[in-house]
Order: sequence, then C-alpha cells, then structure tokens
Amino acid sequence: MLDDARGLLYGADVALGLVRVFDAKKLAGKNPKDAEKAVLQEVAIEPPPGFPFIRPKEDFGIKGRAGLALHSGPAALQLSADRKTLYVLDRFTGTLARVDVSRADQKRAAVIDQLPITPMLGQASRRRGEILYFTDLGRTAVTCDACHPDGHTGGLMFEKTSPLRIYRPMTVRGALETAPYFTPASTFSMGQTSKFVMDRNRYSNPTPTIEELEDVTRYASAVVTLPNPFVDVSGAPPEALTLPDGRPSHPRKGLELFEGKAECSGCHPAPQFTTDQDNETRGKFLDVGTPHLMGLREELQDPLFRGFGVPPWRAAGTCSPC
Ligand code: HEC
Ligand code: HEC
Repeated sequence: MLDDARGLLYGADVALGLVRVFDAKKLAGKNPKDAEKAVLQEVAIEPPPGFPFIRPKEDFGIKGRAGLALHSGPAALQLSADRKTLYVLDRFTGTLARVDVSRADQKRAAVIDQLPITPMLGQASRRRGEILYFTDLGRTAVTCDACHPDGHTGGLMFEKTSPLRIYRPMTVRGALETAPYFTPASTFSMGQTSKFVMDRNRYSNPTPTIEELEDVTRYASAVVTLPNPFVDVSGAPPEALTLPDGRPSHPRKGLELFEGKAECSGCHPAPQFTTDQDNETRGKFLDVGTPHLMGLREELQDPLFRGFGVPPWRAAGTCSPC
C-alpha cells in the first residue's frame, strides 16, 4: 500500500505476521545502498489473547526464529482517507487490525486495536495447518506457499539436488489422490512429504513436531482442485467451445478420441488422469519423448533419468507452464 504524498510504502508479510514500513524514495532510488536501508519499521501484528499456537509458546522468538506474530497472517492493507490509519486484514486470526501510522515516518507506527471479523477456530487442526503452510518459523524465507502459492502452482522453476535438476513445483490441489511424489519418486504419502519438506524448509530449526506434521498434512490434503471452467451446467463437456484464438472446438469429440483412437486414457484415466490414482497402477515411470532435462544450462544438471511419472491433470488447465 503506497502513500504517495508521504513517500511511505506499507507491506504485509503473511509469513512472519509483520507489517513493514518502507521509505519509498530510498527503495526506488538510484543507489542500491539506499534501498538496503529502506525499511523504517517492522510492526508485529500479535494474535489476540487465547489464540491457539502451532507449537509451545517458548519455541518462538529464540535461535533467530519468528515470533508469535506469525499466527496473525496479515494479508491485505488499506489506508484511511486521511492516511493516518492503516487497516490490516489478518487471514489466520480473522481480525482487522488498526495501525496508527500518523508518525510512521518517524518509525513510530503502532497497533491501536484489533476488531474481530470472523471466527477462525473451527476445524482447529486444519487451521493450524494453514498457518504452518504459509509461515516461516525458522526465518529461512522458505514456506510451502512460496513454491506452491495458495496451495497451487505458480509456474515457478526451482533447482534442487538429489539429483541436481530444475524442477517445477506441482500443485498441491488434489495431490492427496496421486502418490507417489517427487522425481524420481521418493515419498509415498502426503504425511511423509510434509515431514521431509518441512524439516528441510526450516533447516531443522526447529524440527517439526508430530502435531505440526499432522496439522500441515491435514491442511495440504484438504486443498481440492479448482472447478473446471469449461464444463456445462451438468458438469459434462459442452457440445462446443470457443478456443482462445476464436476457432470453434468440440470437447465431446475430443473425449471420444481421448478414450478411443488417440489412446490417451490408458495412461491418463479419469478422474485424476493419471495411473497414480489407483494403488494397483501407481508409480509408472515412462519415457514418452519429453526432453530429460529442463532446457536451461543443461550442462549443469544431473543427467540421471528414471522416467517421468504420469502427471495428474488437476492443474493442466490452470497452470503455466504445464
Ligand atoms: C523451494 C520450493 C518448495 C517448497 C518450499 C515446497 N515445495 Fe512442495 N514441491 C516443490 C517441487 C519442485 C515439487 C516437485 C518435485 C519433484 O517432482 O521432484 C514439489 C512437490 C510437492 C508435492 C507433490 C505434488 C505431486 O502431485 O507430485 C507436495 C504434496 C508438496 N510439494 C507439498 C509441499 C508442502 C506441504 C510444503 C511445505 C511444508 C512444500 N511442498 C514446500 C517445491 C517446493
Ligand atoms: C504411455 C503413456 C502415455 C500416453 C498414452 C499419453 N500420455 Fe500424456 N503423459 C505421459 C507422461 C509420462 C507424461 C509426463 C511427461 C511429460 O510431461 O512429458 C505426460 C504428460 C502429459 C501432459 C502434461 C500434463 C502436465 O500437467 O504436465 C499432457 C497435457 C498429456 N500428457 C496429454 C496426453 C494426451 C492428450 C494423450 C493422448 C493423445 C496422452 N497424453 C497420452 C504419459 C502418457
């Protein structure tokens, strides 16, 4: 949220529960050294009294970790017309915090109060899991949300080892249905995936507790696929659809081909369109002619190849690049 007149920029940090006040001129100035000093103040948005924590209170704010404010989830900001009050919508605690920013330029912004907007304590484990998914207790700047934005995929590319390759974070939507995970496959349930990934994300500071793993797994497993925007009111493929370039297409003919002559459904059976959806056919790894390496600095990537899993199609229409 930019206050042009005063040259102040406010940013919500959902991962740490902070609102940062920036000097916009320093941030946008020519000298990169100035930009480094652009943060004027970090205002912690604390959760309301009695709000449940993701782990014991004494585990926060030590060893370089985030504080209890990570439970609040500041996600949207709005400035009052007189620019003296900043409204902060907190997605985990369901409150609207009012911050007095009349003296923000002197590093003296302060929370006034928080108004409850909506109750957030139903499905307690899943709610704690949501907080774990989006936040950064270990302050490593690595969260599930960073690579799988809002539980989905953002077309991000990511390099990791074992083997050293460029990978595309898959969507977490509907992932529950399509174990095993990773290339080559190395985890065989959502729980095992969370355990491995979350500990590494935090550099083991701290190692996730059993409760944390249960919570984040419950949350991630409950992230379902998006509604298909191309079906008709009954949920079936429509008779005709207009393609992005204006040409007509006939999805029902496509379905016939898909399940018939084109022989797609052998590897991509409905409803998830992957053989991984059934225990009996899980874990097929094939070479279907796709280049083995992501076409970027190939000489630096590990050429090890054990085939590609058949990807589910739950995101194929809603991710880029697929
Ligand atoms: C640094 C980026 C990054 C972070 C952080 C991250 N992931 Fe992933 N995730 C990936 C990539 C890349 C893949 C695909 C890897 C592969 O194919 O080997 C993936 C795959 C997955 C899958 C398998 C999806 C499928 O259908 O194959 C699940 C589930 C998952 N991640 C959940 C999580 C959870 C839960 C967290 C937080 C605890 C998390 N991820 C954090 C990058 C990330
Ligand atoms: C022999 C098994 C097999 C058959 C048959 C097959 N596919 Fe695939 N498909 C795969 C594998 C393995 C991948 C993953 C490798 C890749 O991305 O190229 C894949 C990937 C895809 C993807 C990318 C999905 C994503 O999210 O990345 C699409 C789309 C797709 N196939 C469509 C089709 C269509 C349409 C047909 C029929 C004309 C078909 N496939 C037939 C095995 C198969």
